[in-house]
Amino acid sequence: MSSDSVQLSSKGNRPPRTILVCQNQACRKSGSKAVLAAFQAHRTSDIPVIGSGCLGRCGNGPMVLILPNEIWYSRVRAEEAIEIMNRWAINS
Ligand code: FES
Repeated sequence: MSSDSVQLSSKGNRPPRTILVCQNQACRKSGSKAVLAAFQAHRTSDIPVIGSGCLGRCGNGPMVLILPNEIWYSRVRAEEAIEIMNRWAINS
């Protein structure tokens, strides 16, 4: 698992906290279905976990994007879902 972040530059409304797990073809071939299932199994009550279309970083999947912070994770394994939730989603 690796991550990098991008600061939001707009002063407008920030999107609600959401975890996106790419379910498009390249990420599916890398196991994103199991990653999505792991996030959904461990999600907190107020943070939606959504299977998304292509997030534009194909070849590094399974890709996970946490909003509104725009935290990216690449090559995520299902067993890493709890750690990611604890690190970013719960404390953001
Ligand atoms: S297929 Fe997952 S980022 Fe493009």
